[in-house]
Amino acid sequence: MSKVYVFTQFGGPEHQELQDRPVPQPRAGELLLEVRAAGVNPADAKVRAGLFGTGRRLPVGMGLEAAGVVAAVGDGVEGFAVGDAVLAGVPNGNGGFAEHTIVRAVEAVTKPEEVSFTDAATLPVAGTTAYDLTHHVDLDAGQTMLVLGAGGGVGLMAAQIGAVHQLRTIGVASEAKRELVESTGAVFVPSGDGFADRVRVLAPDGVDLVVDLVGGEVLRQAAPLATEPGRVVSAADPAVVELGGGMRRHDPEALSKITGVVQHGLLDPHVTATYPLERAGEALAAVETGHAAGKVVVEVG
Ligand SMILES: NC(=O)c1ccc[n+]([C@@H]2O[C@H](COP(=O)([O-])OP(=O)(O)OC[C@H]3O[C@@H](n4cnc5c(N)ncnc54)[C@H](OP(=O)(O)O)[C@@H]3O)[C@@H](O)[C@H]2O)c1
Repeated sequence: MSKVYVFTQFGGPEHQELQDRPVPQPRAGELLLEVRAAGVNPADAKVRAGLFGTGRRLPVGMGLEAAGVVAAVGDGVEGFAVGDAVLAGVPNGNGGFAEHTIVRAVEAVTKPEEVSFTDAATLPVAGTTAYDLTHHVDLDAGQTMLVLGAGGGVGLMAAQIGAVHQLRTIGVASEAKRELVESTGAVFVPSGDGFADRVRVLAPDGVDLVVDLVGGEVLRQAAPLATEPGRVVSAADPAVVELGGGMRRHDPEALSKITGVVQHGLLDPHVTATYPLERAGEALAAVETGHAAGKVVVEVG
């Protein structure tokens, strides 16, 4: 048997629990992973709340990004063998917060030795999101990127990608995250009333890309700061489209690219808290507040 953290009903966190299940078996094109670490994302609670639909069979395994060791290989898989260390997005429902899970081989990449399992587990969702958002338009060194929610899991990685590209990054976050945001080389702007005016003082000619990880009124106030409406991208709020911007576009190479950036020491995923599998509920709760700093990771074994 194998442990997996699930929700048993759509709704609140009171329906989450650790369960035993038979070790899942990979089908064609799939890998069975012995999970070592799994990143926690706001989407975990959104899935549980039914925001992505309530049509699936219960219980539903939680956790959408993981790193681990290949324990079995499905038919037709090339490029991976038992014993390989990999990282991959976990298909919704398979459960990354688990001793074992199933991932698609085409969505997995080899984990470089230089990257820990814990750091690797933050890249399939949060890392690729940061990569995709920061590459929404081509930016040259010296251009300005504004990151809304710069102290969170995706935002801190986006700010560091800005540094790699020698952008001038302005990061909006709560005062508690000032040092964290500044450690990326970004200029910190406190969130809250008047934040857009504070950004305008720093960038009177506008910003070349707005990266939104907050949505709602924060996005609405920030969008006019972009030099053109098309230079606003969001991972948090589809309303960005009405504002003339766009939602995240997925680059299929994003996972291997961001993994390389971490391997070369150019980006630290900033894992600020880790929890054992038995305490996955606490890890989820920490992220569900909406005010997490950096990444929260569940470690297994
Ligand atoms: N579409 C996709 O593929 C995709 C993938 C990943 C994430 N997302 C979405 O992107 C969003 C961010 O994800 P994440 O993993 O970075 O979340 P996270 O780690 O929870 O970080 C969110 C950050 O936003 C900050 N924040 C909240 N209100 C704010 C405000 N008014 N102004 C500035 N910052 C504020 C929070 O802290 P403070 O309030 O303390 O600053 C927190 O640091 C979520 O909505 C998530 O669902 C989408």
